Amino acid sequence: MLLINESKNLSSEILRLKNFGEKINFVPTMGNLHAGHLSLVREAKKDKHICLVSIFVNPLQFNNSNDYKKYPRTEELDRSLLSKEKVDLLYLPNLELVSKDNFTYSLGDISKKLCGIDRKGHFQGVAKVIIKFLRIINPHCIYLGEKDFQQTLIIKKIVKDLNFNTKVVVVPTVRDKNKIALSSRNKILGKKLVLAQLIPSILSQIIKELNNGDFNLSRIDELKESIKKKGIDKVNYLEILKERNLNKPDKIFSYCRVFISVTINSVRLIDNMGIKKKVRLLGEKYFEVN
Ligand code: PAJ
Repeated sequence: MLLINESKNLSSEILRLKNFGEKINFVPTMGNLHAGHLSLVREAKKDKHICLVSIFVNPLQFNNSNDYKKYPRTEELDRSLLSKEKVDLLYLPNLELVSKDNFTYSLGDISKKLCGIDRKGHFQGVAKVIIKFLRIINPHCIYLGEKDFQQTLIIKKIVKDLNFNTKVVVVPTVRDKNKIALSSRNKILGKKLVLAQLIPSILSQIIKELNNGDFNLSRIDELKESIKKKGIDKVNYLEILKERNLNKPDKIFSYCRVFISVTINSVRLIDNMGIKKKVRLLGEKYFEVN
């Protein structure tokens, strides 16, 4: 596994590989790797192209400097995990990568919903670093986790708007034995991790009730209250939205997802699950599945 810190060196290595007819499959991460990240890497390795992973804790996407400082950094362990996965290139940029970030990119409506509401500037920061990565690497495919579903929509929009010749591959969420989505933040919860089990269970409950019919919006508020009573400090959002654009469902049947964000012990967690059948909203409140 070749380690590269400077973007100039990465560009020339990529040029060299592309001259040999190689294609690059790219997995961006912020490190502190777990089985979720590694499933992206395994997916990226499937078609035998060059597998490039980046580890960069991007300061631009943290709206709280303490959160940025506290973000777990485990570079040595990450390196050994990636070399076991036979990753070809590991890009470890330094902060210079984002020191000149005086451009703006219009993210549109998708960034104003869900996590965009209470994490001001977060998606703008993600967009900036992803645009830089795409320009330097121009990968064949970029691999992203479904767990950060809103992020996948934003990156798909960047690829389309800026005409990158990159395919966005979205990989299913990896969960632990209690169905909790793996996240670098889970470790910070300590004993309170048991409370995180409420997250997948409420998502599955909503999907089950939708499939049984007779689901109405007031049920969402009831379920929010029920998990707060069980010890979740705050439900930042719990919403059923259209998969394509995160708009609210309307009278036309469309594929939807249930999205949740909660705070436990000051740790913000997110998750989402897809509803297999199309859904529509009748009147203001009643959901119907196709
Ligand atoms: P990070 O949180 O490190 O996540 C890197 C990638 O791993 C993302 O695409 C994320 O969706 C995916 N991932 C995280 N947990 C997962 C799980 N349990 N199952 C499957 N995939 C999972 O997301 C970021 O970093 C950054 O915003 C980044 C895209 C690197 C830009 O800075």
